[in-house]
Amino acid sequence: MTINIILLGPPGAGKGTQARTLVEDRGLVQLSTGDMLREARTSGTEMGRVVADVMDKGQLVTDEIVIGLIREKLETVDAPGFIFDGFPRTLPQADALEELLAGMGRKIDAVIEMQVDDAALVDRISGRFTCGNCGEVYHDTTKPTTEPGKCDVCGSTDLRRRADDNADSLRTRLLEYYKKTSPLIGYYYAKGQLHPVDGMAEMDAVGRQVAGIMDGLSG
Ligand code: AP5
Repeated sequence: MTINIILLGPPGAGKGTQARTLVEDRGLVQLSTGDMLREARTSGTEMGRVVADVMDKGQLVTDEIVIGLIREKLETVDAPGFIFDGFPRTLPQADALEELLAGMGRKIDAVIEMQVDDAALVDRISGRFTCGNCGEVYHDTTKPTTEPGKCDVCGSTDLRRRADDNADSLRTRLLEYYKKTSPLIGYYYAKGQLHPVDGMAEMDAVGRQVAGIMDGLSG
């Protein structure tokens, strides 16, 4: 049985954090369009330069580019299931995903909507840093490294903050979310696929809610 889920929620809701737990616990493959785009922006290509400019402003990259990135992964990565993290973000992206999965004889089993207050998002984004080597996500107050400046998971000292994690860019990212992505909540609710979770709870408690939904799908 394959399981394919979408993690849906505003910037800083905890999608990446929960996706990493699901990868570890359930062997699913995380497909984060944000990570793919961050990789593309370092490629030195014209596409990379366009993507970097759009991301730093907090706007959405075109549907054509992100659908192309997801298509390429689905065609080349073999997995028992996928976690779509930060994709889809528009209705055309949702339609494209459904079509791509249908072509593989797969479907979306659940859309997990992470609900977090806007004020908490600002706090989460401004305190976030990640390990440049293994991708572990930290926070200055809610999840600091045990040893300052050193990743708990891989020991790397390459800890980074994202260029788009600043107040101006975050304002645009939130506007983009409410304008273009939040309509997906109603869309997936109407399809009977929406599973809201209280993303304001502490990380492990959110993880338990997500695990409960996953167990319900596989059981
Ligand atoms: P992307 O990389 O997808 O960023 P995002 O959606 O803005 O989400 P984030 O990665 O900021 O947050 P998250 O929900 O993963 O939270 P995290 O777990 O890190 O996209 C970046 C950009 O790429 C976009 O703006 C756009 O330009 C472009 N893009 C990407 N996909 C696209 C698409 N499909 N279409 C078009 N453009 C696209 O947690 C945040 C912090 O909070 C961390 O420090 C964490 O430790 C902490 N935290 C997590 N959970 C909790 C908790 N329960 N309690 C307290 N703290 C917590």
